[in-house]
Amino acid sequence: MAEMRFDGKVAVITGAGGGLGRCHALLLASKGASVVVNDLGGSVDGSGEGSVSPAQLVVDEIKAAGGDAVADANSVSTEKGGAAIIKTAMDKFGRVDILINNAGILRDKSFAKLTFDMLNLVIDVHLHGTINTCKAAWDIMKKQQYGRIVNTTSAAGLFGNFGQTNYAAAKMGIVGVSKVLGIEGVKNNVMVNILAPGAKTRMTEDILGPMADKMSPEQVSPIVAYLAHEDCSVTGEIFSAGAGRTAKIFVGAAQGYFNEAVTLEDIRDNFGKICDETGYAVPKNAMEEIGMVMPMMK
Ligand code: NAI
Repeated sequence: MAEMRFDGKVAVITGAGGGLGRCHALLLASKGASVVVNDLGGSVDGSGEGSVSPAQLVVDEIKAAGGDAVADANSVSTEKGGAAIIKTAMDKFGRVDILINNAGILRDKSFAKLTFDMLNLVIDVHLHGTINTCKAAWDIMKKQQYGRIVNTTSAAGLFGNFGQTNYAAAKMGIVGVSKVLGIEGVKNNVMVNILAPGAKTRMTEDILGPMADKMSPEQVSPIVAYLAHEDCSVTGEIFSAGAGRTAKIFVGAAQGYFNEAVTLEDIRDNFGKICDETGYAVPKNAMEEIGMVMPMMK
């Protein structure tokens, strides 16, 4: 089978100075992509001085292996920063084919103790960060009739996790944005998919428990590269990757209980049917879900 390559393609990867982003950058560069390695620097909770050095170290690694890359230290969290990151790609390489939104921070607290500062910064980096770079790259990708975007969500948002209301809100916001962009981009060959990773990085080394040593970022990057490749024909889909398992995650809808004159007591009496997952559907968009009622109507 032919090797999958990215020769001539330009990839922007945010938060690529370490952890998962670094691995995504190394894989794409090793397959011929020119890479913008973006990273603000700073600590896991987003505090501390920003620094170009983590990004530059990854660029040095890529260049030492014979690849091409440039470092960028702008923050994804502002509209100006997002635009500047995409501008770095345009100035250095003249195009943007691939955007991997990976930058992230954590500020975990139970909801009772969560402050609005903890909420706002996490939403600024993850959700606004993803929108800021997508917005800056969108017209470029539409005009060139080509783009591959991979946005990073989390199982914490998809399934819930104690102490992560701020992070979960941001990560599910990213799912919504990506699903809509997947629908809007398809006519211009811009595919937008979503990654739910699991890997031992500085962000997770204390929370993954005994599984941690079996979960390397290198096991996550192949699905990211696949979704970033021109052969990728899916859009708006979510993929979980961790410890070597790669699997689609989807939002399903039960067939449900139908009664045009439904009452409160009907809901009580048919709650089992409402919740029965047998024969569930996986709607491709909002209209498909709403339309599930059609065959039930007379
Ligand atoms: P990490 O902390 O090693 O990497 C995140 C990178 O983003 C850091 O290098 C950091 O400097 C950078 N960054 C933070 N704020 C930034 C900003 N405003 N602008 C530019 N760069 C910024 O953590 P990891 O684990 O590699 O996380 C990567 C992504 O994967 C994150 O979005 C995270 O939420 C997500 N994720 C990771 C999981 C895991 O198991 N490691 C699980 C679920 C999601």
